[in-house]
Amino acid sequence: MIPLAIQEYIGQHSSPVHPVLDEIYRQTHLRHLYPRMLSGPLQAKLLDLICKMHHPKTILEVGTFTAYATIAMALATEADARLITIEANEELEDTILENLQKAEVTHKVSLKIGQALEVVPTINTTFDLIFLDADKLNYPAYYEMLVNKLALGGILLTDNVLWDGKVADPSITDVETNAIRSFNRQAAADQSVEQIILPIRDGLSLIRKKN
Ligand SMILES: C[S@@+](CC[C@H](N)C(=O)[O-])C[C@H]1O[C@@H](n2cnc3c(N)ncnc32)[C@H](O)[C@@H]1O
Repeated sequence: MIPLAIQEYIGQHSSPVHPVLDEIYRQTHLRHLYPRMLSGPLQAKLLDLICKMHHPKTILEVGTFTAYATIAMALATEADARLITIEANEELEDTILENLQKAEVTHKVSLKIGQALEVVPTINTTFDLIFLDADKLNYPAYYEMLVNKLALGGILLTDNVLWDGKVADPSITDVETNAIRSFNRQAAADQSVEQIILPIRDGLSLIRKKN
C-alpha cells in the first residue's frame, strides 16, 4: 500500500473535511469498537468532491457505521438530494441518528436498519451514486444487485477492494479475499460498466454504468 510518508504528504496537501466530521471521527475513536471501519478524512474528501462534481440526487450507502461517510456525502449534495443508508447493527441506530442531527442533515438522510441483501430489493429507486462499504463476504452478491440499481451514468464506489494488498497475492486464499477478488472480476468483465481501482486507503473502486 502507499507508504506512510506519502499518505501523510497527501493528507497535508488535500483540503480539510467539514469540522463536524472531525468531531464524529474523535467520538467514534473514543466510543466504538473497531473505529478503523470509519472511512477517514481522505476518503471523505473524495466522496465530497465526487458529490460536488457528479451532483447525485439519489444516493445509497451500504454500511453506515457511525454515519461519517453518510454525512460527508449529505453535506456535499444539493438541497433536493436524498440519501438512503443501510446498517445491519441496530445498536448503532442511536449514534447514527445523533450524528445526523449534529450535522443537520436528517432531512436528507433515511436510515434503514437491516441486512442489505434483504433491504435493497425493497427499495424502488435507481441511484446516481452508491457507496458500498459493508460485509466483504457478500461483495459478489452485492455486485449485480447494486449495478442493477444504478441509473445510467451512475457511479458505484466500493471500499476495501485491495484488502490490504491481499487480492494481488495468489498465495492468500481466505474467503474474504476471494470474495473481494470475485467482486473485482465481475466489475472488470461487465461490459455495461467502466471502472478504475484507486489505490487510496484500502482501495476504492469507481465503477460507472455506461449510458
Ligand atoms: C466499514 S463499516 C462502514 C463505514 C462507513 N461507511 C464509513 O465510511 O464510516 C461497515 C458497516 O457495515 C455494516 N454491515 C455489515 N454487514 C452488513 C449487512 N449485511 N447489511 C448492512 N450493513 C452491514 C457493519 O455493521 C458496519 O457498521
